[in-house]
Amino acid sequence: MAEPLRLGVNIDHVATVRNARGGAYPDPLRAARIAQDAGADGITAHLREDRRHISDADIEGLMEVLDVPLNFEMAATDEMQQIALRHKPHAVCIVPEKREERTTEGGLEVAREENKLAHFIAPLRDAGCRVSIFIAADKRQIEAANRIGAQVIELHTGAYCDAFAEGRWPDAQKELQALEDMSRFAHDLGLEVHAGHGLTYDTVSPVAAFPEVRELNIGHFLIGEAIFLGLKPAIAEMRRLMDDARA
Ligand code: PXP
Repeated sequence: MAEPLRLGVNIDHVATVRNARGGAYPDPLRAARIAQDAGADGITAHLREDRRHISDADIEGLMEVLDVPLNFEMAATDEMQQIALRHKPHAVCIVPEKREERTTEGGLEVAREENKLAHFIAPLRDAGCRVSIFIAADKRQIEAANRIGAQVIELHTGAYCDAFAEGRWPDAQKELQALEDMSRFAHDLGLEVHAGHGLTYDTVSPVAAFPEVRELNIGHFLIGEAIFLGLKPAIAEMRRLMDDARA
C-alpha cells in the first residue's frame, strides 16, 4: 500500500491580497490556523527577496502559532540562509527566484551549481532542517540534488498543469509521464519526493496517485477557490481528492 500523502497548504496569496492594500487583513496566520483545522499536514510560505507577499513578521508569527510543520521556501541567498538558520523551520525548500517573474517559473538548476549549493545547504541540514530542492522532472537535476545532500526533492508540476489548462493533452500526458518516471527514479535513489505548483482539483489526482510522492504543496488555486467556497471547504475538497486518488 502507498504511504500516506501529506498536503502542504501554501498561504502566500493570502498575503498577496493583504499587501494589495498594505493593511493587516486578510491575515496569513489566521489562514494557516484554518488550513490546519481543514486537514493540512503542513504550511508552506515563500519569503521572496522583494517581500511581495509573505513578510519577515509572517514567518516569525508562523513559527510561533503553527502546530504543523512549516515548509519555508527560499532562494539560495545569504540573507535567506540567515533567516532560516534563525528560525530553524521543519523544512526549507530551495527555489529559483527571479525578480521579474510572476511566480516560480522553473526548477532550480542544481547540476550547474552543485558545489555552491552543497555548501549552501550544509548548515541548514546541520541546523536540523529537512532540505528540499525544487526541480524539474529531469534525471540530471535529481542526481545532482542527491549528490549535494538534499533529503527531499519537490518536482515542479507547472508544465503539466499549464499543458492541461491549455488543452494540450499530448503534452500534459508527456509531462505527467515524466513526473511519474522521475518520482520513481528519485525514490529509488533514496530521496523523499514532493510535488507542486499550479495544481487544481482537475489536475491533482494523477499526481496524488504516484505512490512515491509523499507530499503535495498547493497554494494559489486553493486561495482562489476559498473566495467561492471558504478556505476550510476548499482545502477539505482537495484533501478528499488526494485521499481518493491515493486509495
Ligand atoms: N511548491 C513550490 C516550491 C512553489 O514555489 C510553489 C509556489 O510558490 C508551490 C509549490 C505552490 O504553487 P501554487 O501556488 O501554484 O499551488
